[in-house]
Amino acid sequence: MDGSMVDHNEIPQDRDALLTAFRDAMRHVAATVYAITTIHAGQRYGILATAVSSLSFDPPSLLVCINRAASLHGPLLAEQRFGVNVLGLGNRDVAEHFMSPSATDRFSLGAWEELAGVPVLATAQSSFACSLVHAHDFGTHSIFIGELLAAHHRQDATPLTYFDRNYIDISEAPGR
Ligand SMILES: Cc1cc2nc3c(=O)[nH]c(=O)nc-3n(C[C@H](O)[C@H](O)[C@H](O)COP(=O)(O)O)c2cc1C
Repeated sequence: MDGSMVDHNEIPQDRDALLTAFRDAMRHVAATVYAITTIHAGQRYGILATAVSSLSFDPPSLLVCINRAASLHGPLLAEQRFGVNVLGLGNRDVAEHFMSPSATDRFSLGAWEELAGVPVLATAQSSFACSLVHAHDFGTHSIFIGELLAAHHRQDATPLTYFDRNYIDISEAPGR
């Protein structure tokens, strides 16, 4: 097969090849960027996540998938409460700051407030405060299901989107 053709019948031979194929295919999934937060024993915790979804309207609920090795995981489980902040283009600096290795420094940038006992970003597009009602472990991650305690949103929404290992502005996407 020459380099310009893709053989879709080709099944990756080993686990490394399968992981590479997965990583490469996932690069092409455009994802909304969220800051997932909690407060435990007076300390705020947060990580950036894309594995987030609305779950149901009845009851109003969301799910988030969090690596069990992440600094947020233990505190969220202990507190049984978390915040889901939908980041907009204007929050790119907060998103980048959230990748800081120091978990305790992550809230030093941005207008952070509290909603139903969890940290919410005043300038986020939307914020949800949830109580943890179910946790399911799978591989390296936990799927946390949260029932809504409170939510708020802004009228102007310009989403921050992660695509092909970069942040992009989907309002500038071709065809819009
Ligand atoms: C764009 C992006 C999306 C991410 N999505 C997730 C996610 O959905 N779940 C998750 O556990 N970690 C996700 N991460 C990794 C976490 O943000 C974080 O770096 C990692 O859990 C280590 O956190 P810690 O330093 O607080 O332990 C993502 C990172 C980036 C840059």
